[in-house]
Amino acid sequence: MTDGTQVKKPVSLSIDKITRGVVIDHITAGRGMSIYHHLNLDHLDCSVAIIKNVKSRNMGKKDIIKIEDKIDLDMDVLGYIDPSITVNIVEDCEITAKMKLSLPATLKNVIKCKNPRCITSIEQGITHLFDLVNRDERVYRCRYCEQEHN
Ligand code: CTP
Ligand code: ZN
Repeated sequence: MTDGTQVKKPVSLSIDKITRGVVIDHITAGRGMSIYHHLNLDHLDCSVAIIKNVKSRNMGKKDIIKIEDKIDLDMDVLGYIDPSITVNIVEDCEITAKMKLSLPATLKNVIKCKNPRCITSIEQGITHLFDLVNRDERVYRCRYCEQEHN
């Protein structure tokens, strides 16, 4: 009978699987948009989807970014921004590589030393190198002057 009563469907936003490209999964909820900007994804011509607050068994909530093109990503930068991320490479609709990121042991040209007397602050063109010294507290140390960065 058409009495105007509508059957409510369960609310769950689903975004299609991609054919070829990159899925950045397990993004800490709320960080999807800043990663989108950081990776300059607004400059891409291909389809890009950001899904916020997806229910996740392990994380409670997470964000996901799907990019319908095989772009190069700097895994060290991504791992530094959000070590919980998993990067999936998709080809012919199948995942061909799955990379679980973590805080990189060394950072090359990702962050800059804050010590004004450090050689990297004085001279141009020197590679900015940091080593992870405390994973739990996310502390890195400049390889040149030992200044800490967290
Ligand atoms: N995905 C996609 N297009 C494909 C294949 C997968 O968009 N052709 C997406 C899925 O929707 C999912 C992510 O890639 O968001 C990871 O897929 P999959 O490895 O199948 O899921 P899980 O097993 O849950 O991943 P994990 O074990 O890393 O949690
Ligand atoms: Zn330094």
